[in-house]
Amino acid sequence: MNIRGGNITLKGEIIAPGDKSISHRAIMLGAISEGETIIHNFLFSEDCINTINIFEDMGVNIKIDNKIIKVKGVGLNGLKKSAKKLYVGNSGTTIRLVSGILSGQKFSTEILGDSSINRRPMKRIIEPLSMMGANIKSKDGNYPPLKILSSNKLNGIKYKQNIASAQVKSSIMFLSLYAKGITKIIEPYKSRDHTERMMKYFGVDIVQKNNTIIINPKIKPLAKEVIVPGDISSISFFIVGALILKDSHITIRNVGYNITRRGIIDVLNTMGANIKIFNCRNKNNEEIVDMEVKYSRLNGVEIKGEVIPRLIDEIPIIAVAASCAEGKTVIKNASELKVKESNRIFSTVQNLSSMGINIEETDDGMIINGSNKILAASLKSYGDHRIVMSMIIAAFKAKGTSNIDDINSIETSYPDFFKTLNKLIDFNEFK
Ligand code: S3P
Repeated sequence: MNIRGGNITLKGEIIAPGDKSISHRAIMLGAISEGETIIHNFLFSEDCINTINIFEDMGVNIKIDNKIIKVKGVGLNGLKKSAKKLYVGNSGTTIRLVSGILSGQKFSTEILGDSSINRRPMKRIIEPLSMMGANIKSKDGNYPPLKILSSNKLNGIKYKQNIASAQVKSSIMFLSLYAKGITKIIEPYKSRDHTERMMKYFGVDIVQKNNTIIINPKIKPLAKEVIVPGDISSISFFIVGALILKDSHITIRNVGYNITRRGIIDVLNTMGANIKIFNCRNKNNEEIVDMEVKYSRLNGVEIKGEVIPRLIDEIPIIAVAASCAEGKTVIKNASELKVKESNRIFSTVQNLSSMGINIEETDDGMIINGSNKILAASLKSYGDHRIVMSMIIAAFKAKGTSNIDDINSIETSYPDFFKTLNKLIDFNEFK
């Protein structure tokens, strides 16, 4: 795709699409609950549709009627062995969380995904799930496909995670519902807590205190109505777009504003962003807000420590903001980026340096020397949705015509990206 940048202003009002993490969890928890879970504002992206397919393959009745999903829960022990292997596509969240549920079943399963999934590390879930009694075979002890064999003795554990990962935590939490006794998980820093909030909402006995989660499996999850908040990760492309493109002024409705997800807003505020938050409300244990974003002069910043898990998926687009800021931005403690859909330290640095930005890859992050001169370039997708959308925004800022090699991966998280973009500009003029 060609993008003619340099003279683009974003103006207007958009609605955030359903949150990907919460959409996955609503299907998973709904499937193993008692009763019918009704889901509104579900994200119909490739990743989330793969989660639906997997539970249908295991005998769960899932109806979609006018974009509303009805999941007939089968209870903790009602899933059936699938006739075929379970396919997660590109979704790390699906394979890691569903493995927790599969480890609690009385049948064995094989679960696999595309070539990018085959490079994602699974030892991080295999280790704690095995401590609980799960029986998982993998390639080289770390990579998919995974064979999950039935186990007849599952026990709760006390587990101290060495990385702050919501996928690892949630995988353990799902298996804890099948285990005997209490499970206690301690995180180094708090990662997104949607599983905790949703399990609590579904009636599970769960206590959250600072970075510790305690689950007592004595109460089974009961179906609920879930309204999925908008995805702050998806709209972060438009937030940064509005901040860096001259004279922009946009309003975004229905943004999920859970504290474990809004690190990007904290960081952009420190950089000097003009972002106004209003209409704060709460739906099924999750905060939702509207926001107004205006073109701003940004300054460099240091990003490290506890905020990293709260903005982990937004680092590529934060790097775009930092490229247009005045001064130096240093991002540290973010080596998890190397094991995402692409090595996001490498893919971000490669693309932005091809646009003339003075940016350097470090062992656990990057150093960006901001400048207002960002050049049109030939950009690479690395098959990674968040890299593609970040680079489209960078290309809007650059004077001249940039080219991006492949935009298909956007489907994994934001199928309506261009439709939403067209509410803010007439994109045809700039292609
Ligand atoms: C997710 C957790 C994060 C995030 C991913 C979605 C989730 O991954 O990067 O996009 O839904 O739990 P990690 O748990 O590997 O950090």
